[in-house]
Amino acid sequence: MKHILFCIIALMSGLFASAQNTSSHLIKQGTATQLVVGGKPMLILGGELGNSSASSTADIEKIFPKLHRMGLNTAFVPAYWDLIEPQEGQFDFTLINKVVEQARKDSLKVVFLWFGAWKNSMSCYAPQWFKANYKKYPRAHTKDGKPLEIASAFSENVFNADSKAFTQLLKHIAQLDPTAETVPIIQIENEIGMLENARDYSAVANKAYAADVPTSLLKYLQKNKSQLHPKMLKKWQDNGCKMKGNWQTVFGDDIYTEEIFTAYYYALYVERLAKIARTTFNVPLYVNAALNSRNRKPGEYPAGGPLAHLIDIWHCAAPSIDFIAPDLYDKDFTGWVGQYKLHNNPFFTPEVRLADNDGVRAFYVFGELDGISFSPFSIENAPDSPSSPLTQAYNKLRQLTPIILKHQGKGEMSGLLFDSENKERIINRDGYKMTCRHYFTLPWDPRAKNEPWQEGGGIIIHLDKNEYIIAGSGIVISFEKDGEAKTKAVQNLGEDGFVNSGGNNNIQNLSYNGQPIIGIASVDEVEVNPDASLRYIRRLNGDEDHQGRHVRIGVDNFQILHVKLYEYK
Ligand code: DGJ
Repeated sequence: MKHILFCIIALMSGLFASAQNTSSHLIKQGTATQLVVGGKPMLILGGELGNSSASSTADIEKIFPKLHRMGLNTAFVPAYWDLIEPQEGQFDFTLINKVVEQARKDSLKVVFLWFGAWKNSMSCYAPQWFKANYKKYPRAHTKDGKPLEIASAFSENVFNADSKAFTQLLKHIAQLDPTAETVPIIQIENEIGMLENARDYSAVANKAYAADVPTSLLKYLQKNKSQLHPKMLKKWQDNGCKMKGNWQTVFGDDIYTEEIFTAYYYALYVERLAKIARTTFNVPLYVNAALNSRNRKPGEYPAGGPLAHLIDIWHCAAPSIDFIAPDLYDKDFTGWVGQYKLHNNPFFTPEVRLADNDGVRAFYVFGELDGISFSPFSIENAPDSPSSPLTQAYNKLRQLTPIILKHQGKGEMSGLLFDSENKERIINRDGYKMTCRHYFTLPWDPRAKNEPWQEGGGIIIHLDKNEYIIAGSGIVISFEKDGEAKTKAVQNLGEDGFVNSGGNNNIQNLSYNGQPIIGIASVDEVEVNPDASLRYIRRLNGDEDHQGRHVRIGVDNFQILHVKLYEYK
């Protein structure tokens, strides 16, 4: 009996020991993935520090309070290998200690970014003792034999040095933050990938490229064939879905095959680091990607990084990585982010180009993609005035967090994002047609003449029948019931709701078909309490809802509106 009791206690303490290390973890809700920290799901309203901004304790002390004033709840902060291990085997965690201590003072979570063997493909954050000893820590080579300042992913010595430092870092963080409530996520390396060529041409890499594709990868492709990324499936199918052969035989002889090869070996490497994290500091792990945008070819961007079209390779070789995360610096924001919200990948971004549009883009990410995070890069350079768009947006999103979390993954939310080229989106939901547009489509704001328009965007949350939260900035939404007679087909109304100038046949009276018509019952500006209840601020009617014709939020501020609809005949 005593023996059994001892076993139960031992088992339970084992459970608690591992539970302690998993206070930060991911859960599923419908189609969404949520990050749980300290027992509660959260949305990351984040910002990533510029590359050199966490390299002095004085800067950390100055920057973090600013991030708090800006309404961030999370800072993405580099952990620099060269400063952590300046002499081989001697570790200095002064900066890490400062980051954790300062983050706690300023109520921030920290995502540490392991700037280890690779940063933007290069090995510039490797310590000098590593970089100089290139015989022991070999470089990747170009096709014509030039060594790059990119450590070779095929070298055991490179892995050993990198992983030793990574292990010490995680052990140290685990001591500082055993429950992972301050450091809930870790990024492994930064924008991994090969430059100049699509693969390493060192002798070891050449040998691996000439060898057969590992059977485990081919079996993975076969097993997941119906769910592969369309580009991966096409590449494999175009070459006959072979189950044996070297890389060229199986995938074809081109740089895209070289990229697949590169992705596979980077992912194998990352998996080994991820496994260390799983036993040392067990939190969600991700890898970030520089995008294959602007018509660039592999090698012109970091080839083989954790990109959407390579997700199957990364999943196969690095199953301990929880998600791949895009860094967003390019035009067509909605197009790019859409590529990373996949059936097998939640949307998470550590880096978005710092811009005035970031506030509305954050709304889009949380509304449309069930995003876990939003995070402009070099955030310390953004203004911290309460009226700055990002601070306003984060203030409203922080309030909305309990409502957003409740509705994630259930198809009850939409995100909006408009500019002067993409002005309108029709959403059909619950038997209504919602016509959502940029605020400047209203014919009375003179700023609409100045292109490009600042972006407008927001979130629509379906609370209940005929009841919505609409929040954001620079949007206007009108409602129609499916089959509603178009008696309201009126054009060119002024701000007062009357025809601007007469005699132009402005009103088209279509015959009424007897179907119900949707009307606006009320629009209230509200605040959201932490328990998700709504606190009335003011009623918006008359001019503010175009005498009951639409719901709108101007471009100058962010609002949360509680909207009720009704039907009449
Ligand atoms: C993406 C990288 O991940 C960042 O560290 C930084 O280099 C930005 N690009 C651009 O400044």
